[in-house]
Amino acid sequence: MTLTLTLAFALNLCISLVFAAAHLDYSATVSRLIPPLTLTTDSPPLPPASFSAPLLSRAIRKPAKTHALRSLLSAGGYHDTPAPDSIVPLVGAEFDYEYLVNVTIGNQHFLLIVDTGSSDTWVPKKGFACSDLKGNGKPAASCAFGTPGFASSLSKTFQPYPNTSFAVSYGDGEYLSGSAAFETVSVGGLTVTHQEIGLVSKAAWVGDGINSGLLGLAYPQLTSVSNKSNPGESATYNPIPFNGVQQKRISAPYFSIALNRGTASGMRSPKTDPHLGYLAFGGVAPVPVTSTTTTVPVQGYSITTREPTNASHPTYFYYTVDIAKYTFPGSSNVTTSSNGTIIDTGTTLNLVPTDVARAYNEGWSTWMNGSYYVDCKAEAPPFSVTLGGKTFSIDPRDQVVYAGKDEKGKELCVSGTQDGGPQLSSSVFIL
Ligand SMILES: *[C@@H]1O[C@H](CO)[C@@H](O)[C@H](O)[C@H]1NC(C)=O
Ligand SMILES: *[C@@H]1O[C@H](CO)[C@@H](O)[C@H](O)[C@H]1NC(C)=O
Ligand SMILES: *[C@@H]1O[C@H](CO)[C@@H](O)[C@H](O)[C@H]1NC(C)=O
Ligand SMILES: *[C@@H]1O[C@H](CO)[C@@H](O)[C@H](O)[C@H]1NC(C)=O
Ligand SMILES: *[C@@H]1O[C@H](CO)[C@@H](O)[C@H](O)[C@H]1NC(C)=O
Ligand SMILES: *[C@@H]1O[C@H](CO)[C@@H](O)[C@H](O)[C@H]1NC(C)=O
Ligand SMILES: *[C@@H]1O[C@H](CO)[C@@H](O)[C@H](O)[C@H]1NC(C)=O
Repeated sequence: MTLTLTLAFALNLCISLVFAAAHLDYSATVSRLIPPLTLTTDSPPLPPASFSAPLLSRAIRKPAKTHALRSLLSAGGYHDTPAPDSIVPLVGAEFDYEYLVNVTIGNQHFLLIVDTGSSDTWVPKKGFACSDLKGNGKPAASCAFGTPGFASSLSKTFQPYPNTSFAVSYGDGEYLSGSAAFETVSVGGLTVTHQEIGLVSKAAWVGDGINSGLLGLAYPQLTSVSNKSNPGESATYNPIPFNGVQQKRISAPYFSIALNRGTASGMRSPKTDPHLGYLAFGGVAPVPVTSTTTTVPVQGYSITTREPTNASHPTYFYYTVDIAKYTFPGSSNVTTSSNGTIIDTGTTLNLVPTDVARAYNEGWSTWMNGSYYVDCKAEAPPFSVTLGGKTFSIDPRDQVVYAGKDEKGKELCVSGTQDGGPQLSSSVFIL
């Protein structure tokens, strides 16, 4: 317990947000050596990463995911605190575009969604039972994972973790359950041994045929394994970056993520879209960076109320930060500071306070069925985010998000900035 808190504290102090330059030419940089970093004097110098893994993506999402977003927004599922039986909504991981990384578990390879908004790393177990969202049994193929699943019998490093249960659920009815196990996990040259993972034996999942689960990078307290002999008692464990530090495989307690935009053709291709950036451990990913950097504290939560607190000895769940303001045409009319915003690679859309979403989307979008829809050819108004005293612009192209086709085959797009509910002390917004 002490160790976990110490690690959490170390990461808390050291997480810096490093925004990669807006126009990265990956064809030119992908195979080059790490370029020198230019950092302002008010930021601590960050080392280059010891390990890095390229991100891959398959971009087009099923319309079902748009429906999922809608039902979540209306149900407010994301605002629920984790249930006592350790079922944690991992809403962030499955909407719209996803960033994937090749992860080796035991001797088997999986493309997993890179998710700073959750903490478990899970894959389906070979022979898992698939069902639809109503619980009716279906062939495994209809869950559409990218692989048939993990085969424990083929791995020499596999160790079961008896009497544990693993369970995650989504606000739209997707859920996964199984048990925990220990395995050797490698990603981008980083190898962590005896890593606890979730092995899914029952899945109600609307997959895309490419990803096979999640790589969770958030804090230990957000893990979702519980003790079967002692139901209700969660069995918190160290996610991969924490174990990497504890096992001294990562020399500096950092990870960084550089996200690139997919090409238009890559987005519309059924194959994975390469060169979408990097996940890196131990420092900064091998991409050019601008001199605009900032360091912000990660918001801790009260252990008892699970609300944000500045009291000593908090617990940590997400990479939660306070947004000083959002700036866009009309922003002066609303309060745009936003507490409790999580930095979440698993969610394409920004989920901002209701007033902010309404003011930003006014005039160029249509509110329909719980989401702001926009014309796929629309030019989005400028939008920027100020945190830690620095302002970062969001490329307007990233504010028009392809969301599948309607019944008549017409392409639908949604605004990249959606309503995340009112600002309450317990709110969780998403950047
Ligand atoms: C993942 O990496 C392994 C080992 O390099 C490779 O054999 C496999 O083809 C990769 N899988 C994908 C989907 O890229
Ligand atoms: C698992 O739980 C069962 C029933 O509670 C118990 O009999 C058994 O000893 C437990 N096994 C382990 C390895 O803890
Ligand atoms: C589960 O709870 C039982 C009883 O409290 C305890 O003996 C066992 O070590 C716990 N197992 C795990 C995996 O935490
Ligand atoms: C914690 O302190 C910071 C800096 O003083 C402040 O911006 C933030 O709103 C506080 N958060 C809470 C939950 O009190
Ligand atoms: C602010 O609100 C007023 C009235 O509600 C409106 O007339 C004005 O256009 C708004 N300002 C901007 C910059 O949108
Ligand atoms: C953010 O939290 C601080 C401290 O609790 C509070 O003073 C401030 O009003 C909050 N901001 C918003 C927009 O709720
Ligand atoms: C909105 O909901 C209505 C009624 O359920 C449905 O017919 C329509 O297709 C939905 N629109 C979109 C864009 O999903």
